[in-house]
Formats: sequence, structure tokens, C-alpha cells
Amino acid sequence: MEEKLARRRRVVLVPAPAQGHITPMLQLARALHFKGFSVTVAQTKFNYLNPSTDLSDFQFVTIPETLPESDLKNLGPGRFKELLSQLLVNEEEEEIACVIYDEFMYFVEAAVKEFKLRNVILSTTSASAFVCHFVMCKLYAKDGLAHLKEGDGREEELVPELNPIRYKDLPTSVFASVECSVELFKNTCYKGTASSMIINTVRCLEMLSVEWLQQELEIPVFPIGPLHMVVTAPRTSLLEENESCIEWLNKQESSSGVYISLGSMSLMETKEVLEMASGLVSSNQHFLWVIRPGSVLGSEMSEEELVRKMVTLDRGYIVKWAPQKQVLAHSAVGAFWSHCGWNSTLESLGEGVPMICRPFTTDQKGNASRGGPRKKINWGQKVANEV
Ligand code: UDX
Repeated sequence: MEEKLARRRRVVLVPAPAQGHITPMLQLARALHFKGFSVTVAQTKFNYLNPSTDLSDFQFVTIPETLPESDLKNLGPGRFKELLSQLLVNEEEEEIACVIYDEFMYFVEAAVKEFKLRNVILSTTSASAFVCHFVMCKLYAKDGLAHLKEGDGREEELVPELNPIRYKDLPTSVFASVECSVELFKNTCYKGTASSMIINTVRCLEMLSVEWLQQELEIPVFPIGPLHMVVTAPRTSLLEENESCIEWLNKQESSSGVYISLGSMSLMETKEVLEMASGLVSSNQHFLWVIRPGSVLGSEMSEEELVRKMVTLDRGYIVKWAPQKQVLAHSAVGAFWSHCGWNSTLESLGEGVPMICRPFTTDQKGNASRGGPRKKINWGQKVANEV
């Protein structure tokens, strides 16, 4: 018995291979490690995060499968089961307390079930987005989501089950058809054997959605975010952060500048980039602009050349990737022109930075409809107690 009590406890975390999903999963990892758990992170080869020294407390393992460009359908439970059985070899010394997987890595559930381990879902999008996924599946079963059919013109109407969300704000993707999105949501919304669900959100922002999910899923749902404020967030960027922008911000006056970043996946037409640049120039504001490599479509010039053509560089600073949380916390930043990814939204709300919203796809449309407060919200202590 004593021997059993002395056994350490490990959690296995399975993030989806995208920046906006890896980051909150590793923030959760840090919070759990802080509580005394050992942590194993199971990554795919696609978008593999090279563990920095900042993450040296965690064990990193690779799911033995080549994932072609984020195609989750090809990553069945088989390979994950193989990996899990290897991790269970050490069960004598270290018990696996549970497996926590991203909502989009739903195939993990079948493997975990076979080993009779406890499994928990982490939703890295908002609770409201998850509710929309459910409703989209229902509407699709009813009439194939006829409101969204091209040329129908009814996409402006309110979705009765989700009032005041309009059909056009439903989390459809620019990267996939409505059918494919619904197929994916059917898997993530499946009422399986997960023992609970953790959401990177805050109860006071999404109380109704959290309660709705709890009833629908019939499992406990814990809103434990914003995770980046629960513990000191580890460095989790897939791209190298350009720290020089902080030095540039240090030279600017308080609340004098706009920070522009459209996240890790958004793509823009050259025309729109030029339009943005022209607006920034005529605004007479200082600005820090993140232009991710490969994010501008239809241009022969590199993104940087393109923007340099348009902007007065002594008022603007352009980087490929920024230390965003540090930027938003900087006193020189007065506004955030954002694509409204859920992490960016929480990070901005946490620092009380007003947002200019330019959503591109999926949940970003719904996130954009929730304005942010102008005063910094002091969530830190409250959430630390909840974890
Ligand atoms: C997408 C969805 O839009 C989002 O809602 C979902 O939850 C995850 O997938 P993404 O485009 O990655 O997200 O945006 P977001 O959720 O905002 O995540 C981006 C992360 O990258 C943020 O944590 C942000 O701080 C970070 N970032 C962004 C940087 O560190 N540097 C940058 O220059 C830009």
C-alpha cells in the first residue's frame, strides 16, 4: 500500500498540431507540473515543437506517423495505442493519472479506452464555439445548412438556437467545405467516454455556454482559463520570436501604437495587405505589424518588400513573428488589430487592449462579435485558485 502511495503520477497530453492548440496545451502542462504531476507531451511530426530549455521539465514523445499537412483523418488510434503501451511499461513506478487530448485529436479516445485510462478533453477554442459545433451538426442533419448555400442570401439571418449569432458567423472554415467541417465536428462532439472536459475560457465570459455543454455532454465541464495567466506561460512558438520589436516599443510613447497580428494560419490577398498599409499610413499612428512568412497570397515580392513599399518605416516596425504576450502587455500598445483567434482574444482581454477585429475563419467570426473591456481584468489570482 505504502509503495502504491509513493508512486508518482504522470499525465499524457496530446495537442493538435497547430500553434493556437499547442500553446494552451503546454500552458496546461505547466500548471499540472506545478501541481506535482510528471508530464509527457505526445506530438505529431507535423508542426513538431522543438522543446526549448524552458520546457525541459516535460518528456516529449512522437506519435509514430507522418501526418500529411494536418490531415487528422489519417492519424488513427492505432499508432497512438502503440505509443501508449510503451509509456505504460513504467506503470510500476509511475501511474498514468490521465490522458488529456485536444478536442480535434478525438481518435485518442479509442486508444485510451482500451487501456482503461481516464481521459479528459481540452477545448482550446471558446465554449461558445463548441456549442456552435453541436448546433451546426443538428442544422446540417435537418436541411444541409441550406442558409449557407451560395447565393441563398439567408446567411445574414439569426440562428434561432444561437441568437444573436448569424448563420454567416457559424464556425465554417475557409480551408474546408461545410460538409467536411460538420464531419469533423460530429467526431469532436461525439458523446464518448471522456470523464470531463477542460476549456480554456473564463466562467464570467461564457457561463451559459459552459452550462449548456455540461448538460449536453453529461460530464463535468471546467472553464479554467485564461491559461496564459494561470502560470508563467512557457515559450511555445513554432516560429522564432523577434525580440527586437520590444526595444522598438520601448522607444514609443504610452498607448501610442497599434499592434497588428493575424495569427498563425490566416492568409491575405496582396490587395488587402496594401489596403491595410495605406490605412495605417494615413492613421498617423505608430504600428508594429507581424507579417508571417507565406501569409500573403498572389505577390511576387516577399511580404516585407511589399509592406516596405507602402509604409514609412520610422512609424512602423515589421517582424515575421513577435513575442505577442509581451507585446500586448507593453504600455506603448494602445490597440490590437487582430484576426480574433481565441488565444489572441484572451491575451488581449487579459491586458485590456481594445481590439480592431478582422476575423478570417472558423471560431474567429464568433469571437469578433464579443467586444473586449477597456480595463485590465484581474483574472490571475482567481483562476490560479481554480486549477
Ligand atoms: C486558430 C483559431 O483561430 C483559434 O481560435 C483556435 O483556438 C486555434 O486555432 P490561431 O490562428 O493560431 O488560432 O490564433 P490564436 O488562437 O490567436 O493563437 C495564436 C497564438 O500565437 C497566440 O497565443 C499568440 O500569442 C501567438 N503569436 C501570434 C505569437 O506568439 N506571435 C505572433 O507574432 C503571433
